[in-house]
Amino acid sequence: MALLSPTLRGIVAAWTLFALVAYASPVDNVKRDSLSSIPSGWLMHEDLPSAETMITLQVGLKQQKVDKLIEALYEVSDPDHKRYGNHLSKEQVEALVQPHPSSLAAVDDWLTSCGVDPASATRSPAKDWLTVTVPISLAEQLVNAKYRTFNHMESKRKVVRSLEYNLPASVSEHIDVIHPTTFFGSSSLTVTTPSRKRSVPLESGSLNSTGDPCTSQPFNLITPACLMHLYRFDDYVPRAASKNRLGVVNYEGDLAVNSDLQSFFTQFRPDAVNSTFGIQSVGGGIISTNFSSDEASLDVQWAMGLTSPTPVTVYSVGSHAEDGLDVSDPQGDPFLGWALFVLNQTTPPQVFTTSYADTESAVPVDYAKRLCNTFAQLGARGISVIFGSGDSGVDNDVDCSAVTDTTPFQPSFPGGCPFFTSVGGTIGINPEFGVGGPVSPPSNYRGSGGGFSNKITSENIQVFPRPSYQDKAVSAYLKNLGSTYEGLFNRSGRAYPDIAAQSNNFAIVLDGETDGDSGTSASGPVVAAVISLLNDFLLSKGKPPLGFINPWLYSKGFKGLNDILIGQSEGCNGRGFNSSTGWDPVTGLGTPDFLNLQRLL
Ligand SMILES: *[C@@H]1O[C@H](CO)[C@@H](O)[C@H](O)[C@H]1NC(C)=O
Ligand SMILES: *[C@@H]1O[C@H](CO)[C@@H](O)[C@H](O)[C@H]1NC(C)=O
Ligand SMILES: *[C@@H]1O[C@H](CO)[C@@H](O)[C@H](O)[C@H]1NC(C)=O
Ligand SMILES: *[C@@H]1O[C@H](CO)[C@@H](O)[C@H](O)[C@H]1NC(C)=O
Ligand SMILES: *[C@@H]1O[C@H](CO)[C@@H](O)[C@H](O)[C@H]1NC(C)=O
Ligand SMILES: *[C@@H]1O[C@H](CO)[C@@H](O)[C@H](O)[C@H]1NC(C)=O
Repeated sequence: MALLSPTLRGIVAAWTLFALVAYASPVDNVKRDSLSSIPSGWLMHEDLPSAETMITLQVGLKQQKVDKLIEALYEVSDPDHKRYGNHLSKEQVEALVQPHPSSLAAVDDWLTSCGVDPASATRSPAKDWLTVTVPISLAEQLVNAKYRTFNHMESKRKVVRSLEYNLPASVSEHIDVIHPTTFFGSSSLTVTTPSRKRSVPLESGSLNSTGDPCTSQPFNLITPACLMHLYRFDDYVPRAASKNRLGVVNYEGDLAVNSDLQSFFTQFRPDAVNSTFGIQSVGGGIISTNFSSDEASLDVQWAMGLTSPTPVTVYSVGSHAEDGLDVSDPQGDPFLGWALFVLNQTTPPQVFTTSYADTESAVPVDYAKRLCNTFAQLGARGISVIFGSGDSGVDNDVDCSAVTDTTPFQPSFPGGCPFFTSVGGTIGINPEFGVGGPVSPPSNYRGSGGGFSNKITSENIQVFPRPSYQDKAVSAYLKNLGSTYEGLFNRSGRAYPDIAAQSNNFAIVLDGETDGDSGTSASGPVVAAVISLLNDFLLSKGKPPLGFINPWLYSKGFKGLNDILIGQSEGCNGRGFNSSTGWDPVTGLGTPDFLNLQRLL
């Protein structure tokens, strides 16, 4: 038995795994998921969690009219449809996702048969989620699997998960997903900010006229003034701040500190000095603001620095004590915890930005689909969901030493979900390049995340096929690409990113020090800010917000973007896609030009 690290006593290596997944299951059981190995980055403890430890199971019941929900989402988001902008209310969305009464009954029967009182469960307003807290021994009976304790090697976070789960046939068809089981994922969220460096200046063709805000700053940092000038919203004065709100989502105790924010304002946005952000704790998320993190400081300083005086609320999701089990976390998984929390709010922010990503292959099919449909619910409510596309080109969170010419690309998650907006990264001004590769100016991270969803079910059905709103733009790219990289990605998968923004050397203040920060973590808040200001304009005219923006972006909005024609994305061993005319898997449709976008509304 190999002990991989002296500090992680009692942890077994992945090769003992086969001995542990073989849990006897009765014949009428349906195998819901089973992992062939422990997800990379995690180690399994030899000791079993104690049978009396309480664990909170989140059960996602089958949503009855999910097809109707998606149809409604597309109608209210399609600028040529008569329902455009007519977003659904909380109650209308809940009516569509309500489970069928037979599903409610089957799930109650299943709980009862295992000795769990259905009345002890808490339920979401639509009853499509059920939460029960039970001893691990009982949870193991419910999902017909063994729970084990795992450590995340990097964060040292400890969780309880199973390597498979099985449900009786009588209830299986009524359940979409159960968490925690085989999904380790967003508990190991990789923040997309890799580096804090100010050493790499903007090299190629920086504007250099006297007083230009992009060259008159020290160290060639990108500042709010520079960015607002570059994307042409330096003259826009928000006028609907009382009706508009921008949400920033941070996880794992990442927080922004007010004194750093004030120092950022003093240097870069003096008119915003003394304004601050609201904090919403989700699932026990920390709300103290005296512990600073890189990611949260970048997100909050830039969200506020670009949209002031628009109110910004930070959703701080899940507090994870260094060594604590997360089994009693009432909100369970962080992405889901955040999304379900927002769906339960009557007037949530109209735009959310999230600079955290997972790896598509690490997310089980059931979970990926259900979370994606949850984004569809947010979109139907008129909420724009924005994620950075990842910082390692075509190979998200991959150990490059194991990559050969035939290793498929590794997309990020939720990159493949069609119901949110993915933001890639650019560098340089005049021209603006996609990030990565020898053609682009040197950047502080590897490459703008981008590619095509690869996810398939065990029956070989594609989980996230290309949505029709992308057909024209993406087929044109694929036609030019020809057979390059054939077999390494799925041509018919949802392609990402959708849009891009600057991402290198963003000014931030961390622990009192001004520094540069890079990655698509920076691009996400920029695009979120632009959408939020476009919403401000719409709201000031009494119109609804943009909501799920992709159908508009691909049919009309792209004309208000700067098409990025040069640069590459860089994954492992130099492989990656090129930026090119029209949509590409490096910079999507391009970077925002606020004045042009505003004209198109
Ligand atoms: C939804 O919000 C209501 C009112 O704020 C709260 O009482 C309830 O516990 C929430 N439900 C869930 C499932 O979070
Ligand atoms: C900007 O212009 C000044 C004056 O013409 C010149 O000295 C400087 O090298 C220029 N900087 C860049 C980055 O081109
Ligand atoms: C910010 O608040 C401090 C303390 O209340 C006050 O002295 C200062 O004038 C304010 N600054 C601005 C720009 O409003
Ligand atoms: C924040 O400050 C308070 C009071 O100074 C302290 O008790 C608390 O531990 C601090 N929190 C963090 C996260 O550092
Ligand atoms: C693409 O998806 C199809 C299923 O739709 C699958 O058969 C094929 O293996 C996938 N190709 C790659 C390269 O992932
Ligand atoms: C990217 O462009 C270079 C230079 O034009 C070309 O050699 C290469 O094949 C292109 N790669 C892809 C993936 O399109």
